[in-house]
Amino acid sequence: MVFVPECHSTNTLLLELSQMTNPPEGTIVITNSQTRGRGQRGNGWEAEPGKNLTFSLLLKPHFMSAQQQFDLTIAISLGVFDFLSARIPERVKIKWPNDLLIGEKKITGILIENGLAGEQIQQSIVGIGLNVNQFSFSKDTATSLKLETGLDFDNNDELNSLVEKLEGRYLQLRAGKRLELLSTYLKNLYRVGEEHSFLVNGQQIQGRIEGIDESGRLKIHTNGIDRFFGLKEISFIHE
Ligand code: BTN
Repeated sequence: MVFVPECHSTNTLLLELSQMTNPPEGTIVITNSQTRGRGQRGNGWEAEPGKNLTFSLLLKPHFMSAQQQFDLTIAISLGVFDFLSARIPERVKIKWPNDLLIGEKKITGILIENGLAGEQIQQSIVGIGLNVNQFSFSKDTATSLKLETGLDFDNNDELNSLVEKLEGRYLQLRAGKRLELLSTYLKNLYRVGEEHSFLVNGQQIQGRIEGIDESGRLKIHTNGIDRFFGLKEISFIHE
């Protein structure tokens, strides 16, 4: 484990480290404060220094092909889901592809960056931002363990227990249990099977999430047909 008091982004730092020293699978880079935390879709990641978990985990899932990349997203999302459900029972949802929500509010963001070698995944940098003890946010769409439970948490204890849950799901994936993982993911997916509005190319559509395809695209039943969307093609409308 590598701790740095401050860095731009633990994902970037771990990527640089992996290029220089070839560290083993399981290596973690963790910081108290990111000055340029990165999120999905080119967004940033804001977290009050010292109050939250911001770290990146190195995986080497050589057993997976590039086409199966989304299975790793599923396994990691479920690892975080397991961790959160043990603290906030019944209220955790996974918002496709890999945000963790409590009710309508985001508590954890995940940024997985895969390095491919031909058809194989050479390495995966799994970046996780989990809101722990922060209790005020600039966005009212964010929450934390502290806000949801009223309790204070020890970041180190929480990290250990989260890593244990991630390992459990990763081992399940490595053991070939991808269908079990998929069905648990779908069971806990935010807004699955419900009629909602989405934004597609600036236009509002109405539809129902029915699942995902092998590449992880979201399957939505709309106007009598099934349509599939990638991350950059669709966003949720918060009604
Ligand atoms: C998202 O929800 O958009 C993903 C956010 C991911 C944030 C984490 S914090 C640790 C790691 N380092 C980064 O720069 N990003 C990820």
